[in-house]
Amino acid sequence: MENFEPEIVAFCCHYCAYTAADMAGSKRISYPANVKIIRVPCTGKVDAIHIMKAFEKGADGVYVAGCLEGDCHFKNGNTRASHRVEHVQKILEDLGWEKGRVAMINMSAGMGERFAGTALEFTEKIKALGPSPIKITNTDKHHKTIG
Ligand code: FES
Repeated sequence: MENFEPEIVAFCCHYCAYTAADMAGSKRISYPANVKIIRVPCTGKVDAIHIMKAFEKGADGVYVAGCLEGDCHFKNGNTRASHRVEHVQKILEDLGWEKGRVAMINMSAGMGERFAGTALEFTEKIKALGPSPIKITNTDKHHKTIG
């Protein structure tokens, strides 16, 4: 498991985290390539189904990065996103997964360093948790087919 490189999906709000990622890039602050950014107009647009789909497609961890509290351009999209993340955490727990595979993060557009730091921290956390249980199940199946 030492060489495990997790696949991370980050749903990033256009007004904050996505811009922060850009800023990190222009300041040459690096962050793990494991993180695949999906730009969304507001985190309020991210539904539980989008997060679950990301896991289904092979993500080992997913986070939603939205504007700071009170700063959402659509009033309370980030609060709604945060509730949805909590909902998904419960679903994961019911499935016997670690709820830490999904997280909500808040930041402003100017926080390039925070973006990079969060990306690194989350990647390390998922590395420690190991591959998503879906992958383990699929590998088992694969072995059965071959064996
Ligand atoms: Fe950024 Fe809503 S506009 S989270």
